[in-house]
Amino acid sequence: MSDKLRYDITNLSGFVNDTDLAGIEREILEAHKLLQDKNGPGSDFLGWMDLPGSFSSQDISEIDEAAASLDDCSDLMVVIGIGGSYLGAKALIESVCPPKQREKIVFAGFDICGSALQELIEKLETRDFSVNVISKSGTTTEPAIAFRMIESLLLRKYGPEGAAKRVICTTDKDKGALRQIATQRGYRSFVIPRDVGGRFSVLSPVGLLPAAMAGVDIRRLLEGALEQKEIVSRKDMNSNPACLYAAVRNALWRKGKVTEIFSVFENPLRYVAEWWKQLFGESEGKQGKGIFPAGCVFSTDLHSMGQFVQEGNRNIFETFLIARKGEPKPEVPREDDDADGLNYIAGMSVDEVNKRAYEATAKAHCEGGVPNSTIFIEERSAFCLGALFYFLETAVAVSGYVLGVNPFDQPGVEAYKKEMFRLLGKPGID
Ligand code: PA5
Repeated sequence: MSDKLRYDITNLSGFVNDTDLAGIEREILEAHKLLQDKNGPGSDFLGWMDLPGSFSSQDISEIDEAAASLDDCSDLMVVIGIGGSYLGAKALIESVCPPKQREKIVFAGFDICGSALQELIEKLETRDFSVNVISKSGTTTEPAIAFRMIESLLLRKYGPEGAAKRVICTTDKDKGALRQIATQRGYRSFVIPRDVGGRFSVLSPVGLLPAAMAGVDIRRLLEGALEQKEIVSRKDMNSNPACLYAAVRNALWRKGKVTEIFSVFENPLRYVAEWWKQLFGESEGKQGKGIFPAGCVFSTDLHSMGQFVQEGNRNIFETFLIARKGEPKPEVPREDDDADGLNYIAGMSVDEVNKRAYEATAKAHCEGGVPNSTIFIEERSAFCLGALFYFLETAVAVSGYVLGVNPFDQPGVEAYKKEMFRLLGKPGID
C-alpha cells in the first residue's frame, strides 16, 4: 500500500477473520483477473481503467486553457450535469479547493427543483458567467432543462458570439442532442469516451474540466490515479487494497451485513460519500443483489444516525474515510474561568479533537456490533483524491463481479424515466 492511501481493517476483528478472507481470496483474484484481462461482463465499459496515463501533456494543457478562458470572462462558472456527470467534480472540488476557488463554481441540472433553478437564474442575471454543460447521452432531462434556461439567458446577455465564448459542452463524440447543439451553435466541446460509463468518468473531461475551472491541479489528480492503478493491479489480495476492500465487503455481506455506511468526519469530504453512493449503488444494486450504500457525515450524524448505528438492526457495517494530515488551526482557546469546562482540551486543534472523535466512534461502533474499516488518505489533495477515485472504482468492479453482477450497466434507472415521460406526454412514448 502507499502512504497516500492505506486501507485498515483493524476494527473487523471478531467479525471477519483470516479464515474468512482466505475463503474468499480465490473468488476475489478470479474477479480481479477478469477485470485486468478485460473479459468479464460489461467489458466494453472499461475505458475508465486506462484514463490515468491516457492524457498527453498537450491534452491537459488544452483542458487547463479551456478552463482559464471561461474563468477570464466570468466571475461565476456554472457546471450543468447530473449523476456521474456531476458528482465526481463536485466531490473533488469540495474536498480540495479553498473557499475562494470553490465559490467560483456553481452546479445546476442535478435535480428538477424549480425554485432552485429560478434562484440561480436570478443570480446569474447580475453576474458575468459561463457554462460547462455535461451529458454523455446528451438527452438527460434535468441538465437539458437547466441548460435550455441558462443558455437562453446567456444569449440574451451576450448574443450568439458572446455565448459561444462562454459555453463548453462535454458529451459524446457524435451522438445525442447536446452534440448537435454544440455543432449547430459553434460551442467548444470535450469528448466523453464511449467506453467510460457516467459513474466512472471523473478522470475524463467530465471531471477534469470543472476541476481545472476551480483551479485543481489536474496533473496531480491524474498522477495520483496512475500511482494507484499500479497498486491495484497487484495480483495479491494483501498488497492490493482494492481487492482487500472487495473481499471484506463480500465477506460481511455473506454474514448478513447488507448495508454499508460510508462515513466521513470532515465536511469537505461529504460529497465523496455522495459519489461513492452512486458508484456502489448503481454498480451493485441489481438482480435482487447488492449492499445498500448509505452515507454519514460525523460528528454531525452521530447526534442523529449515531443511535441507530450503535444499537439498531445489526445488519450494517461501516467504512470510514479519513484524511490523516489535518488542519493545525483553529485551536481550542484557554479561558481563565473555564466556565464550560473545556480547558482540558485547550491548545488542541479542533482537527485533533475530530480525530479522537473518529477513533472513539470506530471503537464504540465495533463494540456495538458494527464491523468497520478505514480508508486513510494522506491529505485532502488532488493527488490523494485521484488515488481514492481509482481505488474505489477498482474495488467496486471486483466486488460486483464477486457478487455476480455486471458492475458497468444500470438497467434499473430507466424505469422511472419511462413512466415520467409517459406522464409528461413525450412524443414516441406509449
Ligand atoms: O452513471 C451513470 O451512467 C448515470 O448516473 C449518468 O451519469 C447520469 O444519468 C447522467 O447521464 P448523462 O451524462 O447521459 O446526462
